[in-house]
Amino acid sequence: MSRILLKTLLLSLFFFSQFELTSAQVSQPASFQNGVVTSADRYASEAGLEILQMGGNAIDAVVAVQFALAVTLPRAGNIGGGGFMVLHTRDGEINTLDFREKAPARATRDMYLDEDGEYISDKSKVGGLASGVPGTVDGMITALERYGTLALEIVMEPAIRLAEDGYILSHSHARSLNNAAERLSRFDGSKDIFLKPDGAPWKAGDLFVQKDLAESLKRIASMGRRGFYSGLTGRLIVEEMNRTGGIITLRDLRDYKSVWRNPVKTEFHDFELYMMPPPSSGGIVMKQVLNMLSEVNIEEYSLNSADYVHRLAESFRRSFADRNYWLGDPDYSEIPVAELLEQKYLSDRISDFDPTMASSSESISHGKFNDVIESDETTHFNVADQYGNVVAVNTTLNGSFGSFVTVSGAGFLMNNEMDDFSAKPGEPNMFGLIGAEANSIEPGKRMLSSMSPTIALKNGKPVFAGGGAGGPRIITATLQNFLNMALFEMNANQAISAPRIHHQWLPDNLYVEGLYFSDDTVRRLEEYGHRVEKIGSIALTHIIILNEDGMMSGASDSRGDGYVAGY
Ligand code: DON
Repeated sequence: MSRILLKTLLLSLFFFSQFELTSAQVSQPASFQNGVVTSADRYASEAGLEILQMGGNAIDAVVAVQFALAVTLPRAGNIGGGGFMVLHTRDGEINTLDFREKAPARATRDMYLDEDGEYISDKSKVGGLASGVPGTVDGMITALERYGTLALEIVMEPAIRLAEDGYILSHSHARSLNNAAERLSRFDGSKDIFLKPDGAPWKAGDLFVQKDLAESLKRIASMGRRGFYSGLTGRLIVEEMNRTGGIITLRDLRDYKSVWRNPVKTEFHDFELYMMPPPSSGGIVMKQVLNMLSEVNIEEYSLNSADYVHRLAESFRRSFADRNYWLGDPDYSEIPVAELLEQKYLSDRISDFDPTMASSSESISHGKFNDVIESDETTHFNVADQYGNVVAVNTTLNGSFGSFVTVSGAGFLMNNEMDDFSAKPGEPNMFGLIGAEANSIEPGKRMLSSMSPTIALKNGKPVFAGGGAGGPRIITATLQNFLNMALFEMNANQAISAPRIHHQWLPDNLYVEGLYFSDDTVRRLEEYGHRVEKIGSIALTHIIILNEDGMMSGASDSRGDGYVAGY
């Protein structure tokens, strides 16, 4: 166990060194009557707003934001990655779209192990072999075709403009490029685009132009999915994979399809929540936790008191133990979803909760079900429109700047999402998550995710949309944002700003945002037996709260970049 904990710590350091935390650009919480967009980047939020103001609906705006983020937030916004969408339409339909990356057909279970069976951690993180088959472009086109009202060329126009004419780098844009410069410089395609020819650092105020990316976006705009998954872009992706040790083929690209899935639904107090099902773990964990919280009467405790945090942490601990063992791609492993979500199971699971003593993660294992056969730097944005549509999208390249490989001639970064698979049972990934058989590597399989786009309704009307960045912390932070609104009636800015905690079973640490938890509270939690670790920030999230008076309030985490645009 101690070896695993040490590795977990080292890998967490790897991850968090890439995780952009900055307070340079503080979002303005704001309320609007007709439409609102919250995203990690000002240009992208404004691209969505432009589409809303021309009469487009929330789906049209989502597609505009996603493509704009691919230009203005290269470390996470993407066309070389994937994600998940939860949407509520004006007619009350609720749906989810899985555009998660897939393992290439030539992927094998042991592809990241050496001949002695040891895990070579770097291989699933940096370079061509780290990439799954990207899903974002198919996802955006699939969503637009079903729910959009504007043509692809129109909604992609802002992104193409930003790539072709360039945009002015903010301080944090520049810093994020400079921080990744060494790893980006290892790949010619990335060096040509993300480093200055003279090697000087980027500065706030520099104009950042991406001509190759503009051409790639134009091919998508005019040819749809063929403009990415085949033709010139498809060939350029495969050539880059061949140059950098990747295994994605034209056939993998051609075969990629996003999938509409039924949301995970749960009730909590007066709210109904709709969340992402597997291969995201977000919905199942959040539903399990909310149900366990009801069992331990969470509503009786004041926000972030030791007793409140203790209940949250113990529920997270139990749920992440299930997550890591049972969850994976439902198309490949039989996941006992009904069993995991059964009320009786969850009340049994939390029945050993001791109000004054922390459990130990070594003694908490996953739930046991007999009847299952084994077959075998992220970003989030929300849009609400004048028509009643609300959409939450969580999307990523995985680590900041993904695999650091840019497709030469096409100008976009490829993901390193293969690291989200369990490369070897018991080995932590870059988020310290330890996976099991259900999330082992298989050709064509989707890797388990923590991305958690979430929409909550009250009296049948959407009141909350949210999600974020931060690996497993996305789940715990999104849930706390929701609880802050649901239990404490906080507005959008209060809900997103309240201090957060995180627990993910292993490592057995209770993370708290150190600046905001008093010594008294921490001492009390330690007396309960929690190993409290004070850290800077937990996740970067974006939310919309829709108020009864019809106003839509957006907020982006002041823990990092973010921008609310509306009208
Ligand atoms: O899907 C997942 O759970 C991870 N690939 C998310 C990565 C992430 O949040 C990194 N960002 N900050």
